[in-house]
Amino acid sequence: MRLRGKIAIVTGAGTGIGEAIAHKFAREGALLILSGLPDDPVCDVAEAIEATGGQAKAYLGDLAEEQHARGCVELALENFGSLDVLVSNAGVFIANAETDAYRIEDFDRTIRNNIRTAFLMTKFALPHLQKSRGNIVFTGSEAGMNGSPMFTPYGGSKAFLHAFMKGVALEQAPYGVRANCVCPGAIDTAWTRGSDSPIEPAAQAAIGAMIPLGRRGTPEEMANIFAFLASDEASYVTGALWLADGGVTPAKNDIGTHVPEALRRAPNGVLSLKHSHDGLHGKEVYRASAGRVP
Ligand SMILES: NC(=O)c1ccc[n+]([C@@H]2O[C@H](COP(=O)([O-])OP(=O)(O)OC[C@H]3O[C@@H](n4cnc5c(N)ncnc54)[C@H](O)[C@@H]3O)[C@@H](O)[C@H]2O)c1
Repeated sequence: MRLRGKIAIVTGAGTGIGEAIAHKFAREGALLILSGLPDDPVCDVAEAIEATGGQAKAYLGDLAEEQHARGCVELALENFGSLDVLVSNAGVFIANAETDAYRIEDFDRTIRNNIRTAFLMTKFALPHLQKSRGNIVFTGSEAGMNGSPMFTPYGGSKAFLHAFMKGVALEQAPYGVRANCVCPGAIDTAWTRGSDSPIEPAAQAAIGAMIPLGRRGTPEEMANIFAFLASDEASYVTGALWLADGGVTPAKNDIGTHVPEALRRAPNGVLSLKHSHDGLHGKEVYRASAGRVP
């Protein structure tokens, strides 16, 4: 029960990594506000947590809009009276094209959903985190460190978050507020596997070969790191980028092909997740080779 009694907001909590963070935090004793876009299965995740004795309220709205970012923070205060943790995890990955073919509208959507959401949520959460000496955990990316061909604006949006987090950590340390960033590599969500993914099927199949551990990470493996960083066990950790990419950042060539098949199996995990691959449902995705994929 690392997070017993802690009040936490998780953004992008209806699907993928966010769903896993929600369930993990609930198991660790947190009281939750789960937020996502109106069509995201956020209520389903909140109901699943409440059905097992946890406390989770849903906030549906576009967190890139000021009124919804404010409203989400206010819901935490109305329900629980204070705020200890913000997990700023919402984001999109909606295009696959060389930079000269990358559509301006997709660039704008990337900046809005990946950066503006994080800025607004941080801005409105901070006064309350200062009172509780709380903390923020952002979701960055390996792509924010290394860049990503075909998704250059996406990698740039995550690099923004890395620098933003460090600035927040330095600025807010005198208030006792910590800030950190988990930087996943390829995780098994709608973004890297399945027909909704912007990544071409052949490239999806080749992902494991690039990764020293030979496989994608699971949402639950990411959630475990968020739980530690958000907890008091991480009381001396601030301004940190926590890379969780199966070793892909220093990797060279097809190193993952040398991993024996049995070691490429992901751990079973303990969380009961239903929406790992639902994150791009209903979102327009653009592949330069295939055009719009509704
Ligand atoms: N899957 C990966 O391989 C991977 C790798 C590195 C980093 N990440 C990061 O992990 C986070 C979660 O990704 P995921 O793979 O779980 O994808 P996902 O699509 O399942 O989850 C993202 C969620 O954020 C929500 N969201 C997007 N914009 C929003 C907005 N304006 N307001 C409210 N909710 C919004 C989406 O609807 C979705 O439910 C993202 O920040 C992503 O950049 C993912």
